[in-house]
Amino acid sequence: MGKKLFIKTQGCQMNEYDSDRMGDLLNLSHGFETVSSAEEADLILLNTCSIREKAQEKVFHQLGRWKKLKEKNPELKIGVGGCVASQEGEKITSRAPFVDMVFGPQTIHRVPTLYETSSNQGSSVVDISFPKTEKFDNLPEPTSEGPSSFVSIMEGCNKYCSFCVVPHTRGNEISRPIDDILEEVKGLAQKNVKEIILLGQNVNSYRDTKDKTKGLGLANLIREVAAAKGIERINFTTSHPFEFGQDLVDIYEEIPELISCVHLPVQSGSDKILKAMRRRHSREQYLEIIGKLKEARPGMSISSDFIIGFPGETEKDFQDTLDLVDSVGFDESFSFIYSPRPNTTAKDLEDNVPLEQKKLRLDELQLKLENSALSISRRMVGQVTRCLVTGVSKKDPGEFQARTENNKVIIFACSDPDLIGNFVKIEVVEAKTKSLRGMLVA
Ligand code: SAH
Ligand code: F3S
Repeated sequence: MGKKLFIKTQGCQMNEYDSDRMGDLLNLSHGFETVSSAEEADLILLNTCSIREKAQEKVFHQLGRWKKLKEKNPELKIGVGGCVASQEGEKITSRAPFVDMVFGPQTIHRVPTLYETSSNQGSSVVDISFPKTEKFDNLPEPTSEGPSSFVSIMEGCNKYCSFCVVPHTRGNEISRPIDDILEEVKGLAQKNVKEIILLGQNVNSYRDTKDKTKGLGLANLIREVAAAKGIERINFTTSHPFEFGQDLVDIYEEIPELISCVHLPVQSGSDKILKAMRRRHSREQYLEIIGKLKEARPGMSISSDFIIGFPGETEKDFQDTLDLVDSVGFDESFSFIYSPRPNTTAKDLEDNVPLEQKKLRLDELQLKLENSALSISRRMVGQVTRCLVTGVSKKDPGEFQARTENNKVIIFACSDPDLIGNFVKIEVVEAKTKSLRGMLVA
């Protein structure tokens, strides 16, 4: 009987990706198989997120619950990775000495060795260093499930937005060589993957550093990925308005494989707040990019992240944000109440918007965003769209789910499992808040 691994993942898609890679690595190195409950595991890993408040406390609460499992089974090993680990390092093992290993987002490839060392020494090990490109070079080829796969193209972020902890926990931007990415894409295509989602904290600062391509960026990479046989859909996340150049707009006209949706976080609609956030672009510049994108690709969906209650946000600033939402007409987006983060420059600003006010503003914004996304869905009713069938519906196993050309989830009745992983034409018949209903077109 092989050893059992349980991984709990908090936070972003990068963390999801890293967790999958850790599973692959530990399977190769020690034959671990992944299980779905902590109770049956021989090794538990917690992949943490520190983007917003109370992250550290959540981690220690979770560890407290697992401590009891370890008391029952002293052979159990526990590891903590991700951004809280990167931020706290040895503070984790001093506060929770039963933790066997601590590693950062840049050292996940060393997890098998850390596991080995802590088992042999019988003591905890901590490695939260940022060893340049070593991570990319030491990860196994991903095992893929389903027709859609993430491919990591860069790590870290140099933007240092004043509110954000990411540059501090994930380190500086490092791009992966284009040849390695393309090799991985081709491998995935051979395993019937049809859709590639290029992944990084800040993908539009991607640069291939080889002489041959002289520092070509994301647009060039997209072109190369589209040329890979079998890849019919491409998406990327997350990008930053500051580096969304004309080449990235033009590529939407050139490459039909690019999906008709862009996640382009704006955070606020107020120039004053954008400046205080150090976002390096104005409201006007953002609207300009959106205008160009909608022109390049009619029917383009735009989604965003918003932060509410940043220090100094007045009613007028908030109204500017609401007004921007009206102008753009966003699709399903994310919004959060500002939370001061360690090491960031904004943490020293006076957090002067009362919590009650922040909550009211957040509710108002979220209602507006929901309505905005719903009206996009309603406009789609009656349209026939080319969809990628991703699997059986999560809610009703008698139905299938697929994703439309603008990446909306669509549920439809079907009994042919051979359609999973393939493209079909579906007519949109109903718009719901989080999904569409459709009918297969023969
Ligand atoms: N790389 C991405 C986003 C990284 S974090 C970008 O360029 O925007 C994901 C989202 O979390 C951010 O877009 C922001 O909306 C939110 N976020 C980050 N730090 C935050 C903080 N201190 N308080 C509240 N929300 C935050
Ligand atoms: Fe964070 Fe800004 Fe980078 S939001 S991830 S510092 S672009």
